[in-house]
Amino acid sequence: TGRATLYDAVGGEAFFRRLVHEFYERVWADEVLRRMYPQDDRAGAEERFSLFLMQFWGGPGTYSEQRGHPRLRMRHHPFPIDHDARNRWIACMTAALDALEPAPLLRAELDDYFDRAATAMINHNPAF
Ligand code: HEM
Repeated sequence: TGRATLYDAVGGEAFFRRLVHEFYERVWADEVLRRMYPQDDRAGAEERFSLFLMQFWGGPGTYSEQRGHPRLRMRHHPFPIDHDARNRWIACMTAALDALEPAPLLRAELDDYFDRAATAMINHNPAF
């Protein structure tokens, strides 16, 4: 019994690796976002984000074996994430999802999650 995972439904590891690759293509083309990311470790960044998403959606737990508890708010503390950065991040992810075309119900679940998670990562307000 039990519900099939989104991880399996979208196609497993290959889907998340492709999604993250498409995402980082766009991050590296964004003049605000690219300054926050490690310039000399794009492969490592792709690996960390892929493993996190695979684990989050019900795939193998390799991310936590390598990195421990995600604690994403804490890990993002060094980066000044304001509404503009959040919206740029979501634009990159939306375009990456557009490129992969997951089935509509899966797409809706992914969109909803990324929308909320990205908002939760805002830690900076340049107006104050
Ligand atoms: C890491 C930026 C949102 C998941 C990072 C890194 C940066 C960054 C600069 C360091 C890259 C690296 O060396 O791994 C941002 C910005 C966001 C955002 C500007 C805008 C809101 C999110 C969201 C998620 C996420 C919504 C989850 C759905 C991760 C993960 C890592 C990471 C898993 C690697 C953590 C680790 O193990 O070190 N992010 N991020 N990020 N981000 Fe984000």
